[in-house]
Amino acid sequence: MSRHALLQQTMGLGPSWQPRGDWFAQHPAMLARAEQMAKPAPAPLAPSPSMPPEPPAIPSAQPMPETAATAPAHPPVSISPIPLQDWNALEQTVAACQNCRLCQTRTRTAFGRGNPKARWLLIGEAPGENEDKQGLPFVGRAGQLLDNMLAASGLDRDRDVYIANVIKCRPPGNRNPAADEIAACHGYLLQQIAHIQPTLILALGRFAAQTLLETERPIGQLRGKVHRYQDIPLIVSYHPAYLLRNQPDKAKAWQDMLLAQRAFRQHA
Ligand code: URA
Repeated sequence: MSRHALLQQTMGLGPSWQPRGDWFAQHPAMLARAEQMAKPAPAPLAPSPSMPPEPPAIPSAQPMPETAATAPAHPPVSISPIPLQDWNALEQTVAACQNCRLCQTRTRTAFGRGNPKARWLLIGEAPGENEDKQGLPFVGRAGQLLDNMLAASGLDRDRDVYIANVIKCRPPGNRNPAADEIAACHGYLLQQIAHIQPTLILALGRFAAQTLLETERPIGQLRGKVHRYQDIPLIVSYHPAYLLRNQPDKAKAWQDMLLAQRAFRQHA
């Protein structure tokens, strides 16, 4: 039995999705994460007065001090290990998610948009006001700009790409996502990536780039090169909402798109 089939059997899941080729062999770190996520949570230790409270289990994201520092006070976030689920079950789990405080203020979760079998995966930051109302990512002004950039690159937004966000719920007032909110949602993003198995990832903005690359380096240092997420080529570009406010940087975003197209052609 393949490792993947064994993994699914261990989790009690049917073969609801099949990775292309030898996906887990090519993505050993993804297998390790999937196995980690599939493990039952360890029994809680009895609290002892000398023991500091356990921090929440963070799937992988690096904390980002600047957002952590500005995050409002909150009760402990509940993060439970999430087994690999089929696509529809995953979407339903996200819709019902209560892993962090954002569930209290969201209208709808924005799971993703586009073709889950697409070869391009675009990852933004978080739903805004329109996305929160409609339950879809990038439907506001930033989304219109993104659609135009995709069309200019010859990519159909419904056929050729899948668009997701680092977090699936709107932070109130469109504030930056906090590190623990990103961590609480990270398992969902990992599962989306495992399902889609994209040929190329385009990280839009610093939260997507820093989360996936597990770095705190600024976007200016991350643009212009082909990174790897596992072995998937990953290009970093500006967030479309930033481009709406900083029109001259659209030219740089176009350079990023050209680099992404080259990387895609090399790996397709
Ligand atoms: N900005 C994002 O990063 N994602 C959206 O869905 C909308 C705006």
